[in-house]
Amino acid sequence: MAVKMNRVSMGVPGVDGLIDGGVPESSVVLLCGGPGCGKTTFSCQYLMEGLRKGENGLYITLEESPEDIKKDALMHGWDFNKYESTGAFRIMFYDPFELKEIITRLKDLIVVNKIKRLVIDSVTLFGLYIKEEYNVRKELYRLIAALKETGCTAVLLSEISSGDTKKVSRYGVEEFVTDGVIVLHYMGIGEGVFRNIEVRKMRRTNHKNGLFPLILDDKGLHVDSDMAGF
Ligand SMILES: Nc1ncnc2c1ncn2[C@@H]1O[C@H](COP(=O)(O)OP(=O)(O)OP(=O)(O)O)[C@@H](O)[C@H]1O
Ligand SMILES: [Mg+2]
Repeated sequence: MAVKMNRVSMGVPGVDGLIDGGVPESSVVLLCGGPGCGKTTFSCQYLMEGLRKGENGLYITLEESPEDIKKDALMHGWDFNKYESTGAFRIMFYDPFELKEIITRLKDLIVVNKIKRLVIDSVTLFGLYIKEEYNVRKELYRLIAALKETGCTAVLLSEISSGDTKKVSRYGVEEFVTDGVIVLHYMGIGEGVFRNIEVRKMRRTNHKNGLFPLILDDKGLHVDSDMAGF
């Protein structure tokens, strides 16, 4: 029996077409890729898409400063300050060692601010301050479980070594407990740069398999529809 479900547009042109129209609402999606592959850009497009539709967004950054992220976004024409001033958008910096506090505060933040879209950039950094990998896994599991209870749709960034696209997460638990996994591939050959996107898994929906060409330019990321054949 077909179940009616709300879908969340990713804001990156062409990506919804890979996932039957968008990510099922309330999913927790892992967005993986090597350095400079476009994870932060993708996240900004995802949040901006929601803000334009009146859906509140929260960006949690663990490494780059909120000012730098907003400045980079402005280079692509995305003005987060405009939405921050109305309270529709919030960007917060946390130190990775504050993971326990983040988990405790996140639910409240999401409810109080009526957040529909959340980004955490990146969950890989949580491991920096936790010695035992077992404890990192346990805490990441707790974080993802807490997010699932909130009903907002979350994109968690995962940094992987460039070239090692077989492994999509650092701690080996993130890809199993999240609802979806999207991988951004980056390959530099000579002076050329080739980017691809792959939907590795997406629960509760049909999705396309394999690699699809991705372009990053002044307007941000988009799937190259000519090359992708749609
Ligand atoms: N206008 C543009 N045209 C083409 N490429 C661009 C443009 N703006 C940025 N880039 C590329 O995008 C990269 C940054 O993308 P982004 O910050 O989204 O990647 P990331 O995966 O978050 O990187 P990191 O691993 O550093 O967090 C830059 O290093 C640059 O190569
Ligand atoms: Mg980044």
